[in-house]
Amino acid sequence: MTINILGLNCAYHESAVALIRDNQLIAAIEEERLNRVKHAKPALTGNPNDIPWQAINTCLEMGNLLLSDIDIIAFSFNPLKRLHNNLNLNEQCIDGEWGTTEGEKKFYKKLIGIPEQIRALGFNGQFMWVDHCVAHSASAYYPSPFKEAAVISVDGIGESESVTIGGARDGKLFSLKEINYPNSLGLLWEKVSMFMGMSEYDACKVMSLASFGDPARFIHQFHQFVKVNEDGFEMDINVCQFRANNFASFEQVFGLPALQDRAAITRDYMDLAAALQELTSEILLNIVKHTAQLYPSKNLCLAGGVALNCVANTAIFEQGPFENIYIQPAANDAGTALGAALYAYHNIFYGHKNPAFEAKDTYLGPGYSEEEVLASLGMFDLLYERSDNVAAEVAALIATGKVVGWFQGRMEFGPRALGNRSLLADPRDPDMVKRMNLLVKHREDHRPFCPSVLKDDAKQWFDIKKDADAAHYMLMAYPVKPEQRALIPAVVHVDGTSRIQLVSAESNPKYHALISAFKALTGVPLLLNTSFNDREPIVCSPEDALKTFLRTKIDFLVIDNFIIRKKDVPHAAPASTATELV
Ligand SMILES: [Fe+2]
Repeated sequence: MTINILGLNCAYHESAVALIRDNQLIAAIEEERLNRVKHAKPALTGNPNDIPWQAINTCLEMGNLLLSDIDIIAFSFNPLKRLHNNLNLNEQCIDGEWGTTEGEKKFYKKLIGIPEQIRALGFNGQFMWVDHCVAHSASAYYPSPFKEAAVISVDGIGESESVTIGGARDGKLFSLKEINYPNSLGLLWEKVSMFMGMSEYDACKVMSLASFGDPARFIHQFHQFVKVNEDGFEMDINVCQFRANNFASFEQVFGLPALQDRAAITRDYMDLAAALQELTSEILLNIVKHTAQLYPSKNLCLAGGVALNCVANTAIFEQGPFENIYIQPAANDAGTALGAALYAYHNIFYGHKNPAFEAKDTYLGPGYSEEEVLASLGMFDLLYERSDNVAAEVAALIATGKVVGWFQGRMEFGPRALGNRSLLADPRDPDMVKRMNLLVKHREDHRPFCPSVLKDDAKQWFDIKKDADAAHYMLMAYPVKPEQRALIPAVVHVDGTSRIQLVSAESNPKYHALISAFKALTGVPLLLNTSFNDREPIVCSPEDALKTFLRTKIDFLVIDNFIIRKKDVPHAAPASTATELV
């Protein structure tokens, strides 16, 4: 029997779609890569039915299917549960918005209209609501290499849960404990980000600022309204006020004014960020230890937006009781599309865990044929040539200080560029952070860039105490060995750590060949890797890449085996002229 399942996420943001056909994962795509709007849409009570049609259509195209061929749509949210659990919480809310009767009913009505909206366009299968935390947990367990594992989901809020602790065995997930709104680490990070003059999506910036600060200064202020228990935490909603646009309580507790602009961030706010990071790691480590008591296992699976916190991930794994860890690379809400589809597959049709879905990599988005690449190249006034040895030629460019857009194969699913939609540069150059920001990224110079490192060489450069599968996806941060730090200044954060991506010939052969060629030239088995974008979603198509290339000052663009340059840029330097910075 042929089964086609679409997983769909769009209740809040990070709208995404995943397609399973028979026992194959055909595709998983975030709508933002196609509609070119970061996070696809804002999370509003009035728009959960903004369906990610571009991602649906692309998935169907990749599966050679029509909407009428889909047997099940699994949606990563449960509207009725949300409605029941969010009224009358006796908290400050914005009129007509989250937490008010009017706002929650508006949200509910939009959600329950979704099946009809999709049926109107030809879908005639079964529509299934999957609890949000179950979808996160499924996204962590089913792609993991484990038959049985403890499973934790930790995010801002699903219907009402912000943390769920459970287990999984032979394809069945079960829940053991939950922590509910208003107790939420994810929402606390959003609130602190906004308090510091940034958006609710800037947790990664707060995390990088934390490395500059002293946690001791504000940790006791956090403890005034966040009670840390051995098995979890409780937050005082009168201080947090997650659903009110009000920072007066934070101003009072921390003795600092709320900022309008991140440009005003001073050492005080770095200390605040450091305390938040310490609090988060402390709470998560407690939860992980408690989980091991509830469900003894060697293996831990993790998902939810908070699982993108690589500093906490490393702390809970290295200091915690589990021997193995798998973290869903698309740990944010995008991954719930994948989780909902996998949950439906295993729980409706099959009782066992299907190894066909275990993650070999995360390159689940669209790829493009040579014909399509050439057609896109023909649209722009650029010079290009096909290389017979793209790894060696591009390694030589990078070793001579060039910033290269590296576009290969299928796009990554999840927020990190992992060598298929990446900007690459020489990690040895102490000025490369500034140069990368000047040419294309326009980020704050304090934010670190990350290295992709050959897996076999990683332990000579980084202090890795326990092997973690999650290190393949830039989800763990490790200290750079002191004797190596001066050799790779562009990828060492102020605290001496790097958030690394391990690269093997199995996980990404072409990227592995490139880094190997760079190592042959320089002795350094790693490259600076950042996402291929400039204040926009990561590029998806060759056309996106070419437009970004033209709009910015990236030196060279490489699409598959084509090396592309602007007309005023001379030919690539031959490999023999690579500078030796080491
Ligand atoms: Fe979530």
